[in-house]
Amino acid sequence: LCAFVAPADAQTYPTRSITMIVPFAAGGPTDVVARIVTGHMAQTLGQSIIIENVVGAGGTTATTRAARAANDGYTLITGHMGTHAASVPLYPKLAYHPEKDFEPIALLAGTPILILARKDYPPKDLKEFVAYVKANAEKVNAAHAGVGSVSHVSCELLHSILDIKPVGVPFNGTGPAMNALVAGQVDYMCDQIVNAVPQINAGTIKAYAIATPERNPSLPNVPTTAEAGLPKFQAQAWNAMFAPKGTSPAILASLNAAASKALDDETVKKRLLELGSVIPGPAERTPEALATLVKNEIAKWTPVLKPAT
Ligand code: MLT
Repeated sequence: LCAFVAPADAQTYPTRSITMIVPFAAGGPTDVVARIVTGHMAQTLGQSIIIENVVGAGGTTATTRAARAANDGYTLITGHMGTHAASVPLYPKLAYHPEKDFEPIALLAGTPILILARKDYPPKDLKEFVAYVKANAEKVNAAHAGVGSVSHVSCELLHSILDIKPVGVPFNGTGPAMNALVAGQVDYMCDQIVNAVPQINAGTIKAYAIATPERNPSLPNVPTTAEAGLPKFQAQAWNAMFAPKGTSPAILASLNAAASKALDDETVKKRLLELGSVIPGPAERTPEALATLVKNEIAKWTPVLKPAT
């Protein structure tokens, strides 16, 4: 007797296009990583993957929708450190729980955080920036992608280290926030590298430092926060793919395999690395590893963010 027979839908999956919810505006870091990876996954799965940008409330509107979607493998979400960890302490009435309402599929990328400013911002380097924002805390402003987004949470961490509370300017993603920074409409932002590399290389914004222990190969001239005088500020975000709870193990396995194959593809790798992403190794790509990451990140951010609410 056969001990386990996968349901017929799981055996033939996917038979139609898949919707990938991106919880922020098009052109931002989550969108860019999702498009690069799903572009390759669609070839492996033999069906198109349609990106749907659903914005609002720091990504929690979209994540609520994904949690409530049918668990048939046809609606997925590319979430991140904000939607699937930092949102838990920041939103006491969050309509989903990252661990209870989702099946982890795969970690897609690690994304270091940079302190960025508009091109004509007076401080020349990180030391000057620190002195400037401390001296002008009531008039400086920091763009972010909504409460609980990576950019918000990262700058919250920076502000707690500097002991300042500047005005936050929320956008529907750091894609539009970056446009405002380039246009000089906001002062600074703590953003993921994927969004920053093209603008830094084009000379349209300033980068004070990268908040990781090592410099990033895509931005060899940008100092680390330790080199620039603020070693306490360390921040790296991540993007990962999730399905609604109860999605069949066979479907999850084929999605995980397709995501992992995408991360091994030379073209995908090159594009992600050029944008400064850290590509997870095979052991970090398993659903189990992602479940552990989500658990650990919720535990890490809860004491940091709870007092701020
Ligand atoms: C964030 O700050 O959470 C992200 O940058 C959102 C985005 O992808 O725009």
